[in-house]
This record gives sequence, structure tokens and C-alpha cells, in this order.
Amino acid sequence: MQLIFDTLTGNTRRFAHKVADLTGVEVVALADADPRAPYLLLTYTFGSGAVPESTAAFLGQHSHWLRGVVSSGSYHWGESFGRAGDVISAQYRVPYVARVNKSGNAEDVRRVADWLQTHAANAAD
Ligand SMILES: Cc1cc2nc3c(=O)[nH]c(=O)nc-3n(C[C@H](O)[C@H](O)[C@H](O)COP(=O)(O)O)c2cc1C
Repeated sequence: MQLIFDTLTGNTRRFAHKVADLTGVEVVALADADPRAPYLLLTYTFGSGAVPESTAAFLGQHSHWLRGVVSSGSYHWGESFGRAGDVISAQYRVPYVARVNKSGNAEDVRRVADWLQTHAANAAD
């Protein structure tokens, strides 16, 4: 399993690297990614609950190996907090692994690490 992240201001990248530091899982920026194996997508929420265009375009090409999604967002957005993850999860029928405020806290990192560990056995699926 790889971590593929999209980011505008760096929070999602920072979160992805925190998860990688704990788990040793490889991290790749979405712009550099060409997935040929299962990956966890980490993105952010923009424009009142929307999926960033860059993420949507990437998924249009590369959804085959998508296995789960994480969205960064901000508590301040209330009902649309991290909603990009809900949209992607519903559209591609993958689990919404974590809804993360900004660059996340230790509990968020642990949650994603646990999920990765559970799914490592199925990494070739
Ligand atoms: C114009 C704009 C719209 C945003 N809309 C939302 C939103 O609807 N829901 C949400 O949870 N966060 C929203 N955010 C907050 C970002 O998702 C949050 O800051 C996130 O951590 C950014 O990730 P990044 O640093 O990886 O780009 C918005 C931020 C901006 C600047």
C-alpha cells in the first residue's frame, strides 16, 4: 500500500509524512503518482465541501487501485468538514479512513496506521 497525497497549503502532505514516519509506508505526491498497486488517497476539502479538481482528475484516471480515502479539512467548516472524503468514499465505494483537522493529531495518525496495518495483508488485492 502506498500513500498518495494531494495538497494545496501543505497540511495533507504533513499528515501523510507523519503516517509514513510511523509506518514506513511509501509516500508519493499526487502529481508524481502513477499507481500500479493499492494506495490510500489523502486529500483535502475545498470550496464548501468539494473534492479538489486535481484530486478529481487523478481519480478519473487512477481509481482502479484506490483502497481508501483520508480528507484533511477544518472544523470551522461545520457540516462540510472533510466532506471531500464522503464524496470520494461514496463515488468509489472505498472506506473513509479518517477525517482530519488540518495536519492531524496523534490519534489521527494512529487511526490511519492501524488501518494500513490491517490492510497490508491484502496489499496485492
Ligand atoms: C477556499 C477554501 C475552502 C475550504 N473549504 C473547506 C470545506 O468546505 N471543508 C473543510 O473541511 N475544509 C475546507 N477548507 C480548509 C482546508 O481543507 C484545510 O485547510 C486543509 O487542511 C487544507 O489542506 P492542504 O494544506 O493539504 O491543502 C477550505 C479552505 C479554503 C482556503
